[in-house]
Amino acid sequence: MLEQYIIRGGNPLVGEVEIGGAKNAALAILAASIMTDESVIIENLPNVRDVSVLLQAMEAIGVVIERLDKHTVKINGSMIHDLTIDKDYIKKIRASYYLLGALLGKYKKAEVALPGGCNIGSRPIDQHIKGFRALGAEVKIAHGMIQTEAERLTGSHIYLDVVTVGATINIMMAAALADGKTIIENAAKEPHVVDVANFLNSMGANIKGAGTDVIRIKGVEKLHKTTYSVIPDQIEAGTFMFAAAVTKGDIMIKNVIPKHLESISAKLIEIGCEVEEFDDAVRVVCSKRLRHTQVKTLPYPGFPTDMQPQIGVALALSEGTSIVTESIFENRFKYVDELSCMGANIKVEGNTAIIEGVSKYTGAKISAPDLRAGAALVLAGLAADGITVIDDIMYIERGYEEFHIKLQSLGAQIDKVTSEKEIQKFKLKTG
Ligand code: UD1
Repeated sequence: MLEQYIIRGGNPLVGEVEIGGAKNAALAILAASIMTDESVIIENLPNVRDVSVLLQAMEAIGVVIERLDKHTVKINGSMIHDLTIDKDYIKKIRASYYLLGALLGKYKKAEVALPGGCNIGSRPIDQHIKGFRALGAEVKIAHGMIQTEAERLTGSHIYLDVVTVGATINIMMAAALADGKTIIENAAKEPHVVDVANFLNSMGANIKGAGTDVIRIKGVEKLHKTTYSVIPDQIEAGTFMFAAAVTKGDIMIKNVIPKHLESISAKLIEIGCEVEEFDDAVRVVCSKRLRHTQVKTLPYPGFPTDMQPQIGVALALSEGTSIVTESIFENRFKYVDELSCMGANIKVEGNTAIIEGVSKYTGAKISAPDLRAGAALVLAGLAADGITVIDDIMYIERGYEEFHIKLQSLGAQIDKVTSEKEIQKFKLKTG
């Protein structure tokens, strides 16, 4: 039997939890770290599956990786002997495409398998390709690979047709080592875009304006060593904030940047929670039935699409009718069927979910459809009456480090099990 989570719901989560480094920033920073021949040290790296997969792919092309501790790596990209990344496992993570920008910038050539990642809708890469072409590279898609090559890269003026985190970061990386000046307009403003720009600047790049919608990059000849600490994970933090909301708990969430959580805090306050901000922590307290609201996912600083399932789970327990509109990815309501098994009353029409709040969930046997939806269903299990068993938790482990252990430390009754015997044991222990 594959690993599953088993949960006995009903306990309010109370206590403190430490948030790790941002997965989506870390993946881009790891890829960018090969752009110098000197050694780079990256701290506050989340120890999650997507990070291990990317490191494995980097090692396969000759990058030397030394794990200094659980959350720190030393990376040296001077021995890269292969510019083709075609292993099957790399297709599983979306962020593999960052190796394109990094390798193209440094070696003016790269070939990477078309990326996969969570199946949350069609995820085109046309804006990445448009950016690379504008910098003077040829880009072809053949045999399931994206192939790109340039005599030389030259700075350019690029207007992105959609706000995309991935393309903004990829173009920024390649342009950091191009000749001359690049301007990216309609750039994504997410905290991890800023983090990657800060990281590249710490290696000697010249990038200005990250965090606004115009990023200006002056190409430099080469990059140098650095030691850099990844920002805290906004989505991990947001997930624990909603864990407090749905369990009527009281959680102090530490090692966060409260500014990055503003859209999440605002919605929690709207639905009746208290949110207290500290320098590097937020406390979420919830003591009464949640209220309904409307929410639409948007690029930063709007409400993040990666938090849509978590707020959906909370609203389905709220008083009244709520409306959730998903404007970034079209296939992000896959948790709704699972949640219906637990008693939720939700109707999905196109990119909108109409939610009639119910007063409680009941435990059920369900599956994690993808990373964030999986985490949201864990929250539902924690709020539910009785036992919930969740399959396919490898999705959740792609992006959450020691999720069930952190939840246990807040008083949740949750365990990872691999056999019927362990399930019975859990039921006896918690019953
Ligand atoms: C990243 C995150 C993901 C998050 C998303 C939005 C990583 C590894 N993943 O994904 O968790 O949900 O940002 O915050 O960091 N688009 C195009 N053409 C392109 C690229 C994107 O049309 O070339 C569209 C996408 O279909 C989507 C929107 O732009 O509708 C945003 O996508 P993007 O910001 O690029 O998301 P990812 O980088 O894939």
